[in-house]
Amino acid sequence: MVRRVSLVLSIVIIVFAAAAALMRVAAAPSAGRAAAERLGIAYPAVIAHRGASYLAPEATAPAYILARDLGADFLEMDVQRTSDGVLIAYHDDTFERTTDVAERFPSRAKNPVADFTLAEVKSLDAGSWFNARFPDRARPSYRGLRVLTLDEVVAIASAARRTLGLYIESKNPEAYPGIEHEIIKALAARGWLDPRKVIFQSFSRDSLEAFAKAAPAVPRTYLVDEKMEKETGWKGLVAAAAEIGTGIGPVGYVAFPWNLGRAHREGLIVHVYTVNAPWQFSVLNFFGADGFFSDRCDLLMEYYGRKPAAAAVDILEKFKY
Ligand code: G3P
Ligand code: CA
Repeated sequence: MVRRVSLVLSIVIIVFAAAAALMRVAAAPSAGRAAAERLGIAYPAVIAHRGASYLAPEATAPAYILARDLGADFLEMDVQRTSDGVLIAYHDDTFERTTDVAERFPSRAKNPVADFTLAEVKSLDAGSWFNARFPDRARPSYRGLRVLTLDEVVAIASAARRTLGLYIESKNPEAYPGIEHEIIKALAARGWLDPRKVIFQSFSRDSLEAFAKAAPAVPRTYLVDEKMEKETGWKGLVAAAAEIGTGIGPVGYVAFPWNLGRAHREGLIVHVYTVNAPWQFSVLNFFGADGFFSDRCDLLMEYYGRKPAAAAVDILEKFKY
């Protein structure tokens, strides 16, 4: 009986080990590393999704300052445009979820971001929602935080005392014709149109093509979700990413080792979004991810064995948050 149990156990272990080995081969992780080295992109990459957005209200000054001073490799942001033509870092289609737009502009609360002037946007409170929703992480200083312009995020990044990149998404680019050129112009004016410091990202092929035409040397990541994977198939998405960019950014649910391996073998870098739990880092890292978009850049750094440059609370206090 004991011999039979140990035989079965041995077979199970061998099968698991073989499956694990096959998955690593399928994921071709060394090709991802080689692509990152060729492009001069941090490997593995810690991409602070809307800043350190677990610890502070997303895409606000403390979120980006925290990510910068904790030691993330990239500050991630979604760029849209106000009605008077200013580029801002904001994710949602409307201001409802993360601001007091419903109180300040009740009749326009459901209007798109592009319907507001910069002065109107700057009058919104983009921090109090966080305190109400996450009381355990709330801080009085978060009340009244402002939506940031692209320039303001660049200024925060420019104050880094180390190599720090910007991972810039053109959000809803169909609603903002020409936004790619405007982003490029804004970066160039501040000395940030640097392929070693910037990666463009988009769910839109057209938008990535516009970035490619105007700034071919800057890396570009094609973002893909489950719907796109169902409609086009992974093979088609990888082919498109290879045609228009240097990387692919899949949602975690489609980041299987054989998918990542196909992308790696096409010479693409794979940055997976949006991954926040250590067990997910482990699984997807094993599956070959070259880095993650994460709200928890603090935990991701820890996972990769990188010591944060300072404690989050000390950074917040240093900057009077
Ligand atoms: O940009 C990577 C990831 O942020 C894409 O999803 O909706 O958070 O912009 P989303
Ligand atoms: Ca994004």
